[in-house]
Amino acid sequence: MYVLAVLCVLHLFFSVPMSSQDWPLDCVPRKTIPYHSDNGKLFREDQVWNYTMMVLRDDLGLVILGARGVIYALDINNISNKKASVNWDVTDEQQEECKYKGKDSEIECQNYIRILHVTEDGSMYVCGTNAFHPMCDYMNYKDGQLILQNDQEDGKGKCPFDPFQKYSSVWVEGELYSATSMNFLGSEPVVMRSSPDPIRTDFKSSWLSEPNFIYMDHIPESENSPDGDDDKIYLFFSETAVEYDFYHKLAVSRVARVCKGDIGGQRTLQRKWTSFVKARLDCPVLESQLPYLVQDVFRSCPADWSTCVFYAVFTPQMDSSDYSAVCVYSMHDIQQVFTEGKFKTPVTVETSFVKWVMFSGDLPAPRPGACIDTATRKMGINSSMELPDKTLQFIRDRPLMDQEIQPVNNRPLLVKKGAAFTRIVVASVVALDGASYHVMFIGTETGSILKAVHYGKDNAGEAFIIEEVQLFQPSEAIKILRLSDSTGHLFAGSEVGVVQMPLSSCGRYRSCGDCVLARDPFCVWDLTSARCTSLSPVHSQGDSKVIQSLQDGDVSSCPPPEKAKLVNITFVPGSNVKLGCEPISDLAQLLWHVGGRALVRSDQHHFHRDSLMILNASVGDAGHYSCWSLERSHGHEHRRLGAEYRLTLGTRTRGGLELPTSPQAQSSNGGMVGMQVLVALLSVTLVALVAWNYYKGHLTLLPCKLGGRQEHPEGSQGDVASTLQPLQSTEEKPPGPAGNSNNNHGNQEHALSMDGHAAEESSI
Ligand SMILES: *[C@@H]1O[C@H](CO)[C@@H](O)[C@H](O)[C@H]1NC(C)=O
Ligand SMILES: *[C@@H]1O[C@H](CO)[C@@H](O)[C@H](O)[C@H]1NC(C)=O
Ligand SMILES: *[C@@H]1O[C@H](CO)[C@@H](O)[C@H](O)[C@H]1NC(C)=O
Ligand SMILES: *[C@@H]1O[C@H](CO)[C@@H](O)[C@H](O)[C@H]1NC(C)=O
Ligand SMILES: *[C@@H]1O[C@H](CO)[C@@H](O)[C@H](O)[C@H]1NC(C)=O
Repeated sequence: MYVLAVLCVLHLFFSVPMSSQDWPLDCVPRKTIPYHSDNGKLFREDQVWNYTMMVLRDDLGLVILGARGVIYALDINNISNKKASVNWDVTDEQQEECKYKGKDSEIECQNYIRILHVTEDGSMYVCGTNAFHPMCDYMNYKDGQLILQNDQEDGKGKCPFDPFQKYSSVWVEGELYSATSMNFLGSEPVVMRSSPDPIRTDFKSSWLSEPNFIYMDHIPESENSPDGDDDKIYLFFSETAVEYDFYHKLAVSRVARVCKGDIGGQRTLQRKWTSFVKARLDCPVLESQLPYLVQDVFRSCPADWSTCVFYAVFTPQMDSSDYSAVCVYSMHDIQQVFTEGKFKTPVTVETSFVKWVMFSGDLPAPRPGACIDTATRKMGINSSMELPDKTLQFIRDRPLMDQEIQPVNNRPLLVKKGAAFTRIVVASVVALDGASYHVMFIGTETGSILKAVHYGKDNAGEAFIIEEVQLFQPSEAIKILRLSDSTGHLFAGSEVGVVQMPLSSCGRYRSCGDCVLARDPFCVWDLTSARCTSLSPVHSQGDSKVIQSLQDGDVSSCPPPEKAKLVNITFVPGSNVKLGCEPISDLAQLLWHVGGRALVRSDQHHFHRDSLMILNASVGDAGHYSCWSLERSHGHEHRRLGAEYRLTLGTRTRGGLELPTSPQAQSSNGGMVGMQVLVALLSVTLVALVAWNYYKGHLTLLPCKLGGRQEHPEGSQGDVASTLQPLQSTEEKPPGPAGNSNNNHGNQEHALSMDGHAAEESSI
């Protein structure tokens, strides 16, 4: 019976990690950088909130920042340096009216800057919610001053009324394309172009159903188009699904598009888009049956528009899990669904229930939702006004494609447990090997930035999280991210301030192994200066000797480092001894050797993230201890000697207690019976904790595991469990009465950490 129970427990512990080996279960950042004011320069002003709209003006050397009731011009090289600002407050009348309509005057009846675009002549177009009365204006930066033209126009349909509502917009050749709600109640969502003759979506739930607008972009598809195709505006959003029978309202992610040349229909779809088509966007994270919802999108185009890909971050709906994901969509796949895919059509089943199924009949010509191209013109149709009613009626009633759009490789590029992803930007970097890599910067709900490199041979598509950097303290959700290639900085805005962070901080890596294993395309190890530095064009010319190994994280060309310093420790029998050793990264595990043999975990030997604890040390524990920090990357195994100790038995004095001779040693007298009981109890707790940690550790310890790749160490899991201790979040207190132990913890952590010592590296 007992054996059976144990087996069950073991099965529970081990079956979970094993069964999920070929799915990207979770990615762990290699390094976690806690908050520090040096992580980035901050801009904030007293009594000003909501720094959530931003546009970079490389041409003016400025960051234009929209907050609540004010717009700033900040130095792009030093965001703490304010160049100019202009206030745009709501008038007392507007505030009164807003309050009268039942809105909160301190929060909602304010002017939140929501739209900020650079126009063709270099001025700017700005809109604000303006106490539920959206207004827009033009703005200039002249003679070191920001000037609003005070030539305000109605912002209805361009800018949301409600500052909490999601929206998106894009400026294309003098015209604003916006996706927002165009009434006070927020119940009339539109996608619209604000030309003198505005064009918008129809108010039908088959077009837009309680949408959350996320991102809009212009793709110049007319460039070199053999078919004489038109430019398109793409929109990413989520909305309530019409096509699923579901118990609750089910939300899905979508991508929609319209043609730039669309001017609406003649009789049908007058002043409405004739080209509005949409498709479901899938990001299959197996954890949940409910679709994940898109939160932000970044477009990255290596060459012309046909090479563009969209990086999108997704989070679960209804808090069904705490995973977030990045999925990548290619322009080609999106286009294919819209130009060749089948449509869905509503059919009434039974009395009034409507079901959406694939439309299998013949499509009218020209194809519904298509732009005017050479073929259409050959049919004598020069504009959307001339499209036949049949085509227009079809698209009016069936804007939804049957097929969904799958991400590249049909799976997420990255999945991570923890703080929800909020924003993403992607930098392109040419690395030392001459290839171009994408580096993602992902903002989270708790104010950190994840930096992850997207690499892989033959576009296999793998991601590796280089680091997670905390930018806001206390935690504040990242609400906007902008990337400046010219200054090499990232700008992250939140409700409380904006931080400017360099794209790389190579100086953080202090050894060659650390620098190379980081796999940061921005960083190389310079053999001459023995430092991890930013990759510069000088390096690529091959004049200096530098090391970088992005694909493999291969450290074999690193020079052998200095030997670790041996530390002598004397202990008294029955005491507890703690030996410190800092792993090289969060992905590394510690491997302890005594007298050249691997140390096995036991009731007496406890492995922690950064130390070894020997309980009730006896004469048999004397010996030579070495600690190896072990990190694997792509089949390479990197071992680095983190610390070495010589443990010798001290003598017990007549008084009963003998101070350890080395300040590093931490020992306590174990002569008391009470303590023995305590130790025994704690041991049992620890074993349980360790087992639990091992189980949890598997969920968090592995770097990104994708597509069946085995990143886990060779050999059985049991073997690993016995020698390697996964991450342990809590620092273990030495068992035994606190007052009786010589706890010189404070210095010890430093004295024994690997960083303080020279260490030996080797690659196996
Ligand atoms: C603006 O910031 C304040 C302070 O963080 C916050 O309470 C408020 O909800 C924010 N307003 C919006 C519209 O996000
Ligand atoms: C950035 O600007 C602030 C405010 O003007 C100034 O105090 C600070 O020294 C500047 N920092 C740098 C690195 O120039
Ligand atoms: C379409 O435009 C072409 C040339 O611009 C013109 O020759 C033709 O008559 C137009 N067709 C219609 C139906 O307006
Ligand atoms: C440690 O002890 C050994 C011999 O017991 C001695 O040779 C060595 O110098 C000592 N090292 C330190 C750092 O005290
Ligand atoms: C400590 O070890 C000694 C022998 O090495 C043993 O007799 C004693 O019972 C141990 N004490 C505890 C609390 O385990």
